[in-house]
Amino acid sequence: MTAPARPSPPNPHVAALAQYRRRASVYNTELALFEPIRRATIERLALRRGDSVVDVGCGTGLSLPLLHRAVGATGRIIGIEQCPEMLAQARDCVRRHRWRNVTLIQSSAEDASLECHADAALFHFTHDILRESRALANVAAALRPGARVAACGLQWASVWAWPLNLFVLGAALHSVSSLEGLNRPWSLLAASLEGLTVEPLLGGAVFLAHGVRRA
Ligand SMILES: C[S@@+](CC[C@H](N)C(=O)[O-])C[C@H]1O[C@@H](n2cnc3c(N)ncnc32)[C@H](O)[C@@H]1O
Repeated sequence: MTAPARPSPPNPHVAALAQYRRRASVYNTELALFEPIRRATIERLALRRGDSVVDVGCGTGLSLPLLHRAVGATGRIIGIEQCPEMLAQARDCVRRHRWRNVTLIQSSAEDASLECHADAALFHFTHDILRESRALANVAAALRPGARVAACGLQWASVWAWPLNLFVLGAALHSVSSLEGLNRPWSLLAASLEGLTVEPLLGGAVFLAHGVRRA
């Protein structure tokens, strides 16, 4: 008698896609509380006029206005997003503003074809991507040495801060496909960065990590 086939583990890629297809219509409202964190994270990129920046997992495009304000019309923004319903809203944003220097790519961060040597990369609340080495390697290959990288997102706060951790658990179950790595979500990114600084925000329930791509 042959053993019954084991169910294969859920593919994080597919799980994240399903999660955001369901969530796309309410996403912008849900994120409103986190806008000050978005601003702080983008500030850490120290963008200048004319810079090029990759917005990894750009979602509905909530970061695009701030990025565009920083790099100006002579800069370039490349957004990568795998969920069509999220990306459609980012495309609307680009159309409304009539920006000509924003390229949006519908793809997983692992497989996106990025032909650039960008000056910066943003990972704003992209836990699933930060835990995928292949995605990080693909983005790193599209950055020039010395490019600035900033990432933020949920993390476990200290064990004593259990009310905060209840918040982290609830938010994570709603927004990431695996809790793996929530104690140090930036740990895989750290290998490719010099001068990594990690700042705790919201009592430690959110991290803001930044550094520059190693030569
Ligand atoms: C919490 S949302 C953040 C969106 C945006 N960065 C923001 O700050 O509003 C996470 C986004 O990452 C996207 N995502 C998850 N895994 C991905 C992957 N492997 N490749 C590309 N996008 C991915 C999801 O579809 C979702 O839009």
